[in-house]
Amino acid sequence: MATHKALFLLEKQGSLAIRDVSTPKPGPGELLVEVKATGLNPIDWKIQAYGLFFTEYPATLGIDSAGIVKEVGEGVTRFVVGDQVLHVGYFNNRQATFQQYSVVPAELTAKLPSNLTFEQGSSIPIALETAAFGLYSSELPTGPCGAGLTPPWQAGGRGKYAGQPIVILGGSSAVGQQVIQLAKLSGFSPIITTASPRNADLLKSLGATHVVDRSLPLAPAVKAITSEPIKIVYDAISLKVTQQAGYDVVTPGGTLIIVLSLEVDKNAIDSSKSIAQVFGRANYESSVFKVLTALLESGEIKPNNVEVLPDGLAGIPDGLERLKADKVSATKLVALPWA
Ligand SMILES: NC(=O)c1ccc[n+]([C@@H]2O[C@H](COP(=O)([O-])OP(=O)(O)OC[C@H]3O[C@@H](n4cnc5c(N)ncnc54)[C@H](OP(=O)(O)O)[C@@H]3O)[C@@H](O)[C@H]2O)c1
Repeated sequence: MATHKALFLLEKQGSLAIRDVSTPKPGPGELLVEVKATGLNPIDWKIQAYGLFFTEYPATLGIDSAGIVKEVGEGVTRFVVGDQVLHVGYFNNRQATFQQYSVVPAELTAKLPSNLTFEQGSSIPIALETAAFGLYSSELPTGPCGAGLTPPWQAGGRGKYAGQPIVILGGSSAVGQQVIQLAKLSGFSPIITTASPRNADLLKSLGATHVVDRSLPLAPAVKAITSEPIKIVYDAISLKVTQQAGYDVVTPGGTLIIVLSLEVDKNAIDSSKSIAQVFGRANYESSVFKVLTALLESGEIKPNNVEVLPDGLAGIPDGLERLKADKVSATKLVALPWA
């Protein structure tokens, strides 16, 4: 495997095309993974459309993968060649996942249990990590990046928030589905989420207790469900309109978690309400990868429904267009780099 195929963004805000590229060696603490399935994320089309993150081109995109460990770097003890794994990628050509081989830090990797396919596995990593960061991380030097709750996999964390309501905006998004499942493990109740009504049964199967039609005003709908103060609102969509609705609903002393830049009017922010902005993979402290295999085996964390795109890497550009046009509902689009 001296070379392999990768999908490249040829220039800033340019077009995507498949090229051969040298297969890298994993460094200390890293794995080389044969990418069997890669999930598409909104950030991939945003990088292409807005010219984000990359300064050098051609650039390879993609931040979600499931595959097989092909080489193990120095010092790695948790994985051996042949292990089936799922992992996050990153915005550089070694670690991006729209290619046949990707390098990843072992600590951002988990073994894929036998009850999941590669396609299902590739729907999970960045969405789950973003969900976990928002709920369980706390301060970064840049400011709050999460609500600082106790994770369910730490002592005293499981069920800790029993009897406390949580509101999750955009429950059918990939991130939202993982927030619902973590909220359930943390004990929150009721778990109130917004989505299109057609996705209500799916979200209830993941742990939502109430699914509010996302076209309705949020505050009265929440008031009709609970009179308890809402201390945690996770806005998995984070458009201006959803951030404002979430900000209005969160109680003083509570936290609104957002996944994009702040859109609430800065001059109107009440300092008693905390706003935490998540940057998935902003640091390596996410402990979720150490416990992920067990959570997947037990079914406590489930993958998204997946749709496999035709034509391998060549099918990705059309998939990104569909994401950009907001035409994907409660589904992870997945490409198979070897197809
Ligand atoms: N900060 C980070 O580190 C980080 C990491 C990952 C993702 N993100 C960002 O998080 C956002 C979600 O990503 P994703 O991959 O989870 O998205 P996704 O799965 O592609 O989102 C699709 C879903 O969004 C829902 N939706 C759209 N507008 C909505 C609204 N106004 N209210 C409620 N639901 C709405 C749709 O719901 P229905 O079909 O039910 O209507 C659809 O199911 C993106 O902006 C992404 O860039 C940030």
